[in-house]
Amino acid sequence: MKLGVCYYPEHWPEERWAIDARMMRELQLDYVRVAEFAWSLMEPAAGEYDWGWLDRAIDTLAAEGLPVILCTPTATPPAWLTRSHPDILRMDSNRQYRDHGTRRHVCPNSPVYQKFSRQIVTAMAERYGDDPRIVGWQIDNEFGGGKTGRCYCPFCQTAFQTWLEIRYHSLEALNQAWGTAFWSQTYTAWDEITPPHDGINYKNPSHLLDFYRFSSDSLVSYQQEQIDLLRVKSPDRFITHNFMGLFLDVEQFDLARTLDFATWDAYPTGFPDRQRAMLYPLNWDAQRNRPVYAYDVGEPEIIQMANDLIRGLKQQPFWIMEQQCGHINWADVNPGVRPGTPRLWTWLSMAAGADTVVYFRWRATLLSHEQYHSGLLRHDGTPDVGFEDVKQLAEERDLLAKLTEKPPQPEVAMVFDYDSLWALTINPHRRDFSYLRLQFAFYHALQRLGIPVDLVSLKSDLTRYKLVLGGPLHIVNEQEAETLHHYVEMGGNLLLGIRSGFKNDSSVVTDQPLPGLLHNLTGATVTHWQSLPAEAALPLRSIWPKISGAAGYWTEFLQPASDRARVLVSYENGEAALVANPHGSGQTIYLGWYPTIEQAKGLLETLADQLSIERLANLPDGVLAAKRGNHTILLNFTDQPYEVVAAGQTVAVGPRDVKVVES
Ligand code: GAL
Repeated sequence: MKLGVCYYPEHWPEERWAIDARMMRELQLDYVRVAEFAWSLMEPAAGEYDWGWLDRAIDTLAAEGLPVILCTPTATPPAWLTRSHPDILRMDSNRQYRDHGTRRHVCPNSPVYQKFSRQIVTAMAERYGDDPRIVGWQIDNEFGGGKTGRCYCPFCQTAFQTWLEIRYHSLEALNQAWGTAFWSQTYTAWDEITPPHDGINYKNPSHLLDFYRFSSDSLVSYQQEQIDLLRVKSPDRFITHNFMGLFLDVEQFDLARTLDFATWDAYPTGFPDRQRAMLYPLNWDAQRNRPVYAYDVGEPEIIQMANDLIRGLKQQPFWIMEQQCGHINWADVNPGVRPGTPRLWTWLSMAAGADTVVYFRWRATLLSHEQYHSGLLRHDGTPDVGFEDVKQLAEERDLLAKLTEKPPQPEVAMVFDYDSLWALTINPHRRDFSYLRLQFAFYHALQRLGIPVDLVSLKSDLTRYKLVLGGPLHIVNEQEAETLHHYVEMGGNLLLGIRSGFKNDSSVVTDQPLPGLLHNLTGATVTHWQSLPAEAALPLRSIWPKISGAAGYWTEFLQPASDRARVLVSYENGEAALVANPHGSGQTIYLGWYPTIEQAKGLLETLADQLSIERLANLPDGVLAAKRGNHTILLNFTDQPYEVVAAGQTVAVGPRDVKVVES
């Protein structure tokens, strides 16, 4: 288990660096991340490099025994580059170019940007690639951040056409796949196709989905160029990138594939502000009607879901590359953070599978965009809350190290499928239908039940899980259907949700009985469905006692297609709402309505009992549990003390405190 910090020597007078490095060593930090935005300082003019300041910064850190994670600075191209080649700038969907003065204002398909990126990465790798003080590389910074995941510029237009040509080989195939017979969209030459910009008022969902995939692939291949260069010029150093948790615009599994491990930037008070409305049920606050968490901890289920996704990207432990350690500057309220909270966040990250936590940032900056963002040190260079917490962590580091020897090993997986997410975002049928919100209902239920989960893709190894939550698998291709068949045949338990199997790979509706390619797995046909207004709900009759209430929001009506399929829940009129179908040595369960968190919990509790899935603890609201090896970690995010039963022991967990139970 290691700790580190993000440091910007270029923001401070050089006389200060030695003091900073000494304080970092005294704080027992293991790594320092530098340089991710320092392109204009490393290359002040095209092809002219100034390594002096970076050499001296690395020397200063090395003098205190602090190894460096070096970042490629390509998120911030210098003004000499953007002004001499303004066409490298990113174009938004309204066909407006972004301008210099920010970050990520570039297009990954611009040949000039690619060329200059290769040059700076090569120059850095040649200078520092085998420097023993450099332990690894971070590529760029948060691909897609600041709504930059998709660019609509002329380079992207050409690259999109080429991407389509490779995918479909012929225009006939593309026209067929996109259903261009509708509204006379037929294309007769590749260069007739544009990115789906705002000038097209109603967009074809197939066109949009392919553009989302293309945009994601563009960032993946832009990153790959840097990886390839670094692998040659800097062997034996790790290569990673800092992801953004529940980020929806880039296929993060693809982006992670050739990295050594994934890292992400965890801002627990920031994401709830931004993401809570996307995740919780629409009437959740009214239902809950009381604050659960302490005011300064954020919402741990949201952070934990992001942790579980980042761990799932490679099904292995990860790092936090930027860990919030005080208040931030970019959300709505940016609450102050009390002593104990940065420690709790560090523990949450480690419990969820982080092996290294790097704090953002060393010292609150006096400059520019992030003046109101805290660091471990205050603006005046004296210790802030985070510093004191990290200092106190010294006493716990042996325990943390022991804990991180073993990875988390959940028995349950949830499929996080970008194609289905994108297709349902593009075409939700009811405006507030959200893939993520539905998945979060199940995720939240699992957390409340104390059941750890990996978020995985359909390319991940599913066979290691007792239960796989397929979710709303709206887009399914033959290979994915085959993967799921194999999983169930070999004894797996697959829970599928509404709207599954509805469309093919090109986002065209299946002409087979629903759920399309998954039909013989479910052993039941979805005969019809209804999106329901808020006042309508269909009472349910359930054989499983833990499921009750009514089905609202979205309901599907199932008809068993074989004698073996068992109807476990039905609507009042007798039509089936939940069907379990044995298949091979396993089973598929199709849940035909949009469950409340309580109903999802009842269903998952029933399945956990039947499948002997371990529940880590009996958890009060606001307390989370995680497991690494034989250590169960209980984390209390409230201002109340609680007694929790875990691993056969009753444990008192204080307000905003952590307890570890060994079994
Ligand atoms: C991250 C970003 C950092 C910094 C931080 C502020 O998303 O990678 O550079 O801007 O946010 O919270």
